[in-house]
Amino acid sequence: MGLLAFLARRFVAGETADDAIAVGQRLAREGIRATFDLLGEHVHDEKTARASAEAVIALFAAIPPPLERNVSVKLTQIGLDVSRELCLALMQDVLRASRQVSGFVRIDMEGSRHTQATLDAFRALRRDFENVGCVLQAQLRRTETDVAEAIARGDRVRLCKGAYREPATIAWTRMEDVRLSFRRSQERLLADGVAPAIATHDESLIRHALDTARARGVGPERFELQMLLGLRPRRWRELVAAGHRVRIYVPFGTHWLPYFLRRLRERKENVLFVLRHLARG
Ligand code: FDA
Repeated sequence: MGLLAFLARRFVAGETADDAIAVGQRLAREGIRATFDLLGEHVHDEKTARASAEAVIALFAAIPPPLERNVSVKLTQIGLDVSRELCLALMQDVLRASRQVSGFVRIDMEGSRHTQATLDAFRALRRDFENVGCVLQAQLRRTETDVAEAIARGDRVRLCKGAYREPATIAWTRMEDVRLSFRRSQERLLADGVAPAIATHDESLIRHALDTARARGVGPERFELQMLLGLRPRRWRELVAAGHRVRIYVPFGTHWLPYFLRRLRERKENVLFVLRHLARG
């Protein structure tokens, strides 16, 4: 294993579905849920898109009960850049397979070039499927409007800050503005959304979510807190001990580099973790 691959193991469960399932089982023993993500994005040919969809379908079959069959996918992995029709057809196959095992598919949100196409595809799929949810990014200026629309449609939303660098014309670029947008959206989602997922490691936002839920009488069974594998594991356990639902994003596969680089870019502590290992030689 190369050094980078070794370091990425803090954030990535391993290369195979079995590696990810083993992590999911360890989490389940502690009362922590998982969403599994077969890493991959920006597929530009039909054959690879089909192979990705088949791998996701195989994943649904491989996750053993009582583990929840909860999977996150990126639409560019399932052919969105090849053609919308191909992507929708493959996603219907994925959602049918998921439905057969009472599973759930969360469509991750990618960079702003794909925001509208991803939401359009999600809304088209939602007409026929209940077992699918979307992700909205607080850093985008449009997100409060998208949150209102998702609430009106009864869509299941995961709210996150957004992991992609976006221009100031469409995105909040100061962290305080991103947090403000996040707080406003999570207040709306907690009050009126269907099973909202609050996805952040940011303690000020986690506290705000818990305070908002408490103040509005929203019980812990009505929302979940989500974090990424490798980040703040002690906090997952504290939240579970306090009666909250916690779900961890468990990525796996051989295409881990873009995911790993996003994690390094967003937090200097993650870079320090890598540098510390390099310095140790
Ligand atoms: P950020 O990294 O900005 O940290 C802010 C503060 O949080 C820190 O200053 C510190 O106080 C606290 N903190 C963070 N990490 C800590 C640690 N390890 N220990 C102690 N304190 C810590 N993005 C996207 O664009 N599309 C998507 O589909 C998804 N999906 C997704 C799913 C899930 C489950 C999660 C958790 C995240 C995503 N993301 C995502 C990524 C998301 O948009 C964002 O890039 C990262 O979560 C980083 O932002 P945070 O809000 O977590 O805190």
